Amino acid sequence: MRLRLIFVTLLITMVSIVPAGLVCASSRSITSLNGPWRIKAATPAALRHAVILSTWKWQRAELGLNSPPRVVPEDLSQSVGWKLYKSGSNVLGKKPGYVWFQTILPPMSHSPRMLEFAGVDTRAVVYVNGKMLTEHRGGDMAFEIPVYANWHNHHPNILTILAHGVGDKIATLQPVKFGTYAPALFPPNEGISTNRSGGWKSVLVPNDFVVQGTFDPKANVAHGYLHVDPVWYRKTFSVAATAKGNVCELCFGAVMSGAVVYLNGQYVGEHADGYAPFRFNVSRFINYGGVNVLTVYVDPRIREGWWYEGGGIYRHVSFMVLNPLHIARWGTFVMSQIPGLIRHNPKTGACADANLIIQTTVHNQTNQRNVFTIVSSVLSPRGVKIGTTKTIETLAAGAIHTFNQTLPVLHAALWSLHHCNLYSLHTEIISGGTAVDTKSTSFGIRSIYYSPNSGFYLNGRHVELKGTCNHQDFPAVGVAAPADLWSWRVMKLKGIGCNAYRCSHNPMGTALYNACDHLGMLVMDENRELGDTRLGGDYMRAKSYPGVPYGNAHNLKAMVLRDRNYPCVIMWSLCNEEVKIEGSTFGQKLFRRMMKIVRKLDPSRPITCAMNGGYPNGFAKVEDLLGINYSPASYIIMHRHFPYMPIFASEMGSSESDRGVLKNNAAKGLVSQYTVHSSWSQLPWNAWKPIGTRKFVAGGFVWTGFDYRGEPTPYQWPDINSHFGLLDICGFAKPDAYYYKAAWTRKPMVYIQPQWDFPRKAVGTPILMRSFSNCQQVELFFNGKSMGLKAMPRFGYVDWHLPWQPGKLLVRGYNNNKLIASYSVQTPGPAARLKMTDEWPDIVADGQSIAPIAVRIVDARGEVVDHAINRVRFRISGPGEIVGTGNGDPASHIPNDAHYSSAFYGRCMVLVRAGNKPGAITVTATCKGLPPTTLNLRTIAQTP
Ligand code: GAL
Repeated sequence: MRLRLIFVTLLITMVSIVPAGLVCASSRSITSLNGPWRIKAATPAALRHAVILSTWKWQRAELGLNSPPRVVPEDLSQSVGWKLYKSGSNVLGKKPGYVWFQTILPPMSHSPRMLEFAGVDTRAVVYVNGKMLTEHRGGDMAFEIPVYANWHNHHPNILTILAHGVGDKIATLQPVKFGTYAPALFPPNEGISTNRSGGWKSVLVPNDFVVQGTFDPKANVAHGYLHVDPVWYRKTFSVAATAKGNVCELCFGAVMSGAVVYLNGQYVGEHADGYAPFRFNVSRFINYGGVNVLTVYVDPRIREGWWYEGGGIYRHVSFMVLNPLHIARWGTFVMSQIPGLIRHNPKTGACADANLIIQTTVHNQTNQRNVFTIVSSVLSPRGVKIGTTKTIETLAAGAIHTFNQTLPVLHAALWSLHHCNLYSLHTEIISGGTAVDTKSTSFGIRSIYYSPNSGFYLNGRHVELKGTCNHQDFPAVGVAAPADLWSWRVMKLKGIGCNAYRCSHNPMGTALYNACDHLGMLVMDENRELGDTRLGGDYMRAKSYPGVPYGNAHNLKAMVLRDRNYPCVIMWSLCNEEVKIEGSTFGQKLFRRMMKIVRKLDPSRPITCAMNGGYPNGFAKVEDLLGINYSPASYIIMHRHFPYMPIFASEMGSSESDRGVLKNNAAKGLVSQYTVHSSWSQLPWNAWKPIGTRKFVAGGFVWTGFDYRGEPTPYQWPDINSHFGLLDICGFAKPDAYYYKAAWTRKPMVYIQPQWDFPRKAVGTPILMRSFSNCQQVELFFNGKSMGLKAMPRFGYVDWHLPWQPGKLLVRGYNNNKLIASYSVQTPGPAARLKMTDEWPDIVADGQSIAPIAVRIVDARGEVVDHAINRVRFRISGPGEIVGTGNGDPASHIPNDAHYSSAFYGRCMVLVRAGNKPGAITVTATCKGLPPTTLNLRTIAQTP
């Protein structure tokens, strides 16, 4: 397999060096391959020549909780302590510990050899002939390990597994198969000409097909109880005859996961990881002047996370034709230096003189030396050209090189959270008098600085990081969210005072960074894992542990190259919770190696990661910023230990709550809105107070802003969702969102929970009322009568207790005895109508844009009827379609693509996708006993 890949790569390189002088593209042409594709179920790629390893022996391992040994102790094979192992049994009984398992591998002369594990609880270190191949974390998840290293062709090969967990009492080994890896079977070719036969279904790419499945308690809990079976995707597209002689590339924003790409029935390449963008040079596979059939095998069983990851071609796909002399992928980079004073104006924002360092990476894929001019022009945020620089450069045949230019900008309008000034760089490569490539790059000019004593500074002004961590999961569409939903999400978070977004635990689609650049949100960009677990274009899913070849850092490089021009990105995170190596010298070595790669591509941002232990050793000794997950007690200890190191809370809180729920209910999969927390996590006030009161902590990222599918905690089925969000998956705020709003915003506000809507039979039931506010004092009134004035502790809350009876709760906030904020809730009358609100108006008629429409069941006065659980049905007329619904209930099993929902505590959501023609859309909601309600939307024409 490896050989075959090398061969394919060589061939691609050979064919892509084209003779100069051919008629080539005068500039890049990009054709979107989004939109209609076909999809059908696939037979999973399988092991060939597979045998089940059925005879295992086991014995307890006398090890501490430190890193596992890199080699198996010499005397282990001779040990007399071995016992026979029954597959799937737990040998530890009640005592936590470590267990050795051992077997002999049968001879296997074919390559690549692959071990396929059905699951090892809880963690597994795999050794062949005594040497460590890799370590796998992930409980009962299936995984595969290629066996290249340490193999003996002429002796028996011994496979040893060390199964262990931190404090766990489980050590089980599910069946293990050994064989050779077979890439996806040859693509199905039936119906190629008509695209109709052979069980193909239509889908719109970007697409998450997993989210459209049926919830099943037998499916994987971590991923939201949805099945993840492999599929084929197929699309046809035409390529002009004139494209011949150019470089033709297929570009994928990301595919979840295990993508194997075929063009016109020929194998192009593979990309296992589900989060990194990748591309293939397909020049030699193209049918020039005709129709091309693109087929992609997608296998989302290849898992990387412990949350819902979805499945499918879920980001943009495009076909690009480039002149052989062109700007390399992500080959433009603008860095800004601000040497002098920054002037601040409350109305217009910050302004300063700046020097731009412009880097352009050019690839000469012709077979001769080329002389060319790089012309870099900068356009102001208003689109006015403010400067141009030109340099003449030379590149040898086949060479790729980065060229530097500089350009001063006087009175630059700086990018900030309130003034999102975005400049644009227009790059031209001129050769032989014509522009052979042009490219536009958006960038911002701003300065960032982190102080170990007082946190983060943007343009010289202190900004506390008020952040949330988020996965990339949305209502109805799963991980295939269009730009509108990302912008909607960012605005929702801004609405509670959040100013920073952690991309946990992987780089997001570009729509997130664009939204943050345009709407004003800082970003902690995050690489999926340390090392290169999933190597781009290579099935060698090697973790960079000793004995395993180090990867090419494809995913890390792709993140930095793709995202380095976004001014919103203020730090690079290399990983999250690499528990086994974060404090080790090996981990530190690997981290440092990766830092070097990042620095080379972007020396302008600090490097960090999210650690949940290991400090002050390991990564902490080499990184620029110390990101601490949970453990508030560590902030001060680490600040003393590393007085020179800025510190922030990379993850905090992680408490669980559900909107509207008064008491935990495991059977219904609901947790109280008053918030519960797990052993490692903290209630909001215990999480934020140690940050908000300490200047040296630069801020923190709450786990999480939005709920997401998978990782249901503390319960499992019927839950399919997490409960960690400050907002539910549909963006409806839970009470904790108001705790953070009070902590994060200055404009006076006050809030009280719970909703005042209980059944009549609840009259007299004692109810806890909790108020959050940023005012000095708060006073509660029930039906006009004061229940007492209380001092509001900073970053805290105040409580009252009242027996429930219908009425009105009014809470007022005072500063210096002056009334400055108020909030009220009232017992609603009977449900009278539905109220629909378009949360993201003006969607574009591009066949992709989606409007999230919030639906509330209200009484005659317009007050939300919180206890309402009515079923609501939706229909649509006009150029658009209903994509699906959501309601924020973490245990809702309503299919994601349904055209109905049930109100969860009075609210649900319908998502409407624009068609390709602009026009008026009417969405009608009907509900038994209530009059139908309509909402009119207008989709706007796409600007060319
Ligand atoms: C963290 C982890 C997150 C999530 C969270 C739940 O340790 O980094 O991915 O699992 O716990 O509390």
